[in-house]
Amino acid sequence: MSTAVALDGPAGAGKSSIAKRAAKELGFIYVDTGALYRTIGLAATRAKVDPVDSPEVDALLEKIKVELTFNENGEQIVLLDGEDVSGEIRTPEASMTASKISAIPKVRAYLLDLQRDMAKTNDVIMDGRDIGTVVLPDAQVKIFLTASPEARAGRRYKELIEKGMSVKYEDILSDVIERDYNDTHRKTAPLKAAEDSVTVDTTELDFEQSVEAVISVIKEKI
Ligand code: DC
Repeated sequence: MSTAVALDGPAGAGKSSIAKRAAKELGFIYVDTGALYRTIGLAATRAKVDPVDSPEVDALLEKIKVELTFNENGEQIVLLDGEDVSGEIRTPEASMTASKISAIPKVRAYLLDLQRDMAKTNDVIMDGRDIGTVVLPDAQVKIFLTASPEARAGRRYKELIEKGMSVKYEDILSDVIERDYNDTHRKTAPLKAAEDSVTVDTTELDFEQSVEAVISVIKEKI
């Protein structure tokens, strides 16, 4: 039987970079489920469809094809109608559209099987918001990774500046706060720690310490 690690938590807690490294060390596949919501958000933006619960979004879901694949380095690639959109989904605008569109129950249902299928045949570390609560409720390990909004905004700011984007810390912080609010207040699968999860707070931890904390929780459980 394959092993599943559910890694949930708010935006910018370091889930993806920590999960990537932990997956490499453990020989697991890293699945970034946020990329799937971002891809549907991008499809809506391209089709000029408002990311709210509407017949237009339903019709869009009927038309598009979202796929997950991996390149030769084991990195996740997300395809929208066969096109690699992995880079295009990484902007602050795409984050906000993803946050809005992810509140729609039909969007969440649309992505459920795709996520579950990944865990059926592979040992995975899957990062998201509802992996331990909804997608993989039987995951052997459930971790809720969090940090203060200021620490998370500071890290995201640094990341975007390093990529050459021109952004303001205050804007990133208000985005983080708004996305936290959207993610925790939506009716379907809101962000919350699974009852049987272990919380890892990385506010005071650097990257290496965070990786170590996550790996030690995983090793304890499997
Ligand atoms: O992890 P991320 O920042 O790439 O996620 C983008 C948005 O998608 C985020 O605002 C919440 C949503 N999301 C979700 O609702 N459920 C998931 N499993 C993953 C992401």
